[in-house]
Amino acid sequence: MDLLHKSKHQPPLDLKGSLAFSEAAGSGCRYIRVETDSALPDTSPGQFFLLRVSGVSDPLLGRPFASFSGSGNSVDFLFRPVGRGTELLASLPPGTRVDLRGPCGNGFPVPRSRRLILVAGTLGIAPFLDAAARFSRTLGVTTILGVPGHGWRDFSGWCRDRIPDIHIASDDGTIGNPGTAVEEALSLFQHEDEVWACGPNPMLKNMGAMHSAGCERLFVSLERRMACGMGGCLGCSIETRSGSARACVEGPVFEWKEVLWNE
Ligand SMILES: Cc1cc2nc3c(=O)[nH]c(=O)nc-3n(C[C@H](O)[C@H](O)[C@H](O)COP(=O)(O)OP(=O)(O)OC[C@H]3O[C@@H](n4cnc5c(N)ncnc54)[C@H](O)[C@@H]3O)c2cc1C
Ligand code: FES
Repeated sequence: MDLLHKSKHQPPLDLKGSLAFSEAAGSGCRYIRVETDSALPDTSPGQFFLLRVSGVSDPLLGRPFASFSGSGNSVDFLFRPVGRGTELLASLPPGTRVDLRGPCGNGFPVPRSRRLILVAGTLGIAPFLDAAARFSRTLGVTTILGVPGHGWRDFSGWCRDRIPDIHIASDDGTIGNPGTAVEEALSLFQHEDEVWACGPNPMLKNMGAMHSAGCERLFVSLERRMACGMGGCLGCSIETRSGSARACVEGPVFEWKEVLWNE
């Protein structure tokens, strides 16, 4: 099965750690750092960790979050409380013990083009926060953030503080340029650009317009509900042109054209 754009998948580790800080990131979002008891392996943008509060049985399962700034014994996450797991995480004081499983899955491949466009829908910016600065040392990097608009101003500002040249688009036109992240990406796309995207699945599906515009290397990080994060439960399966694939092992990053979007 030729699904992997990277050749090898390392099984994730089960780690323990403590919450080092938890800060507001605007518009209800949280920015947290976990200091792990043992050293973390290297992670690539798009890989993720399952995160849960140690000793808590409700919710029992860890929740998946893209990591950024992962090095040595610390790893950072950005999230928005949307349900039980994330609301609990958002309420934790520094020092709280947490369990992590990761790094899970395959991240984005090593870029082959000299120009890279990173396209994020709201919290989809997480895997790109560190990568944008890192890759811009050697490549031309354009980062785009799409938000619904009203209500996301503080979060947009938080992202701009970290990526000063970020392009922001909002559906209602109240922040940055009016329009979607996909429309913004189409307007900035140049022949031979490589494009990576992370965000809600409808946005990722619409990223297909980049192919029509001539993009040959288009990769997306898919969101799926996850349980084990290591390929055992098949709860995160998606349909691809090469058959069924587990988003937590073969993904979450896939070539756009590999995914069967109508399944
Ligand atoms: C690989 C990956 C990386 C992710 N990275 C981030 C990140 O960096 N920051 C962030 O804020 N979120 C991220 N998510 C989404 C995050 O995992 C969910 O928001 C979280 O699991 C919700 O848990 P909950 O208990 O709070 O919500 P629940 O009470 O379980 O559900 C609340 C709502 O969230 C939806 N939901 C639950 N789990 C997921 C999921 N895995 N994907 C999409 N929708 C979901 C449910 O359908 C429901 O509508 C990521 C998801 C995946 C698969
Ligand atoms: S979450 Fe269990 S197989 Fe992917």
